[in-house]
Amino acid sequence: MPPGESVQTFSKAVSVMRAIETIIKSRLAAGIIPAAEVMALALYHPEHGYYRRAEGPWGFEGKDYYTALDCGPLLGQTLALRLEKAWETMGCPKHFTVLEPGAGRGWLGRDLLTSIQGAFAEAFRYVHMDDNPAARRAAESALMPWIASGRAGFVGESQILQPFVGAILSNELFDAVPAQPWRWNGTAWEREMLGTEGPRWEPAMPGEAGVWFDAQSEGALEVGDGSVWVEALPELVHKFAGYIEQGLFLTIDYGDSAARLLAKGADLRRYKAHSVDGKWWEDLGTSDLTADVDFTRLATLLSREGFQLPTHQSLGRWVREHAPLIEWEAQWQELAGPVRMARMENLLALTLPGMMGDRFKVLEAWRR
Ligand SMILES: C[S@@+](CC[C@H](N)C(=O)[O-])C[C@H]1O[C@@H](n2cnc3c(N)ncnc32)[C@H](O)[C@@H]1O
Repeated sequence: MPPGESVQTFSKAVSVMRAIETIIKSRLAAGIIPAAEVMALALYHPEHGYYRRAEGPWGFEGKDYYTALDCGPLLGQTLALRLEKAWETMGCPKHFTVLEPGAGRGWLGRDLLTSIQGAFAEAFRYVHMDDNPAARRAAESALMPWIASGRAGFVGESQILQPFVGAILSNELFDAVPAQPWRWNGTAWEREMLGTEGPRWEPAMPGEAGVWFDAQSEGALEVGDGSVWVEALPELVHKFAGYIEQGLFLTIDYGDSAARLLAKGADLRRYKAHSVDGKWWEDLGTSDLTADVDFTRLATLLSREGFQLPTHQSLGRWVREHAPLIEWEAQWQELAGPVRMARMENLLALTLPGMMGDRFKVLEAWRR
């Protein structure tokens, strides 16, 4: 980056931080703020939020984090095969719509549209849903080859859609929904708050979150157990569920079962410049805040919406189940050395337990 540009980038980041800090300061004058509200402001303030700023750098562009899509095309290729199988199971409907909420730069849509073929490609239509303005601009360029023909399109998050036959899929959407950390202190629940001196845990009535955590721990809570509670999850699941007349709900994200998250004491994380820590109250608006996804709760909510067989498994296992590994190995022999190496690295990133293979899960549920 030229020196002039880096000074400009730095001063932009400082002014975003100042804007969010000013808002937080005036809120703090009225009392301490729940961590989930800080996360909501830091990510989704209409003007200064990390995912709402008109200009970068943010996320991938700002090199705070990368997702499975930055590792190469293999996730998209595997998903294309998985969706084609779902389409066949459904009797090869004439139209198969794939809606991606939290679609970011549209790279998953691009990788899907690049790899599908034949009759499935004729039926396939990809719809990008994400109000993140910087990502939307990148998506318009990534999806350009398919926009004019109508094979790729865009919808806003508040737009009302007619139910369709097809799939809703997402990668790293639910970890970006504001979440509230809770912790069991041995006698009562405490929630994490921001005060003028910094973060602190305060006793509070957990309501529905407490009922859920108690049930998931089967009455065996230990001091320090805790998890994150996404207040908006039922509403979000209800909204997405309403779009699918028949088809597959598939989501990829980091997280675990409710019981495991409780035992590990899941909390918020901050990603900045490829380093990760628990300082969710720092650099507000200029770093990514995120939380593990409670896959047990997501599956329960989908069941309530009438989805069948919600199951989740590790990304590594899911890739091994759906990717044509032997075919790939033969095809890659034809590639130039560096490209072949990049494909192998892409596969390792998706499947190795120390990388995304274990930490990431894939949840699938059906509406038939
Ligand atoms: C971590 S990024 C993931 C981007 C992309 N899926 C990827 O893997 O590269 C999360 C994205 O979810 C979007 N998002 C958050 N809540 C959303 C919602 N309710 N509907 C659609 N998008 C949402 C944010 O704007 C952000 O761009």
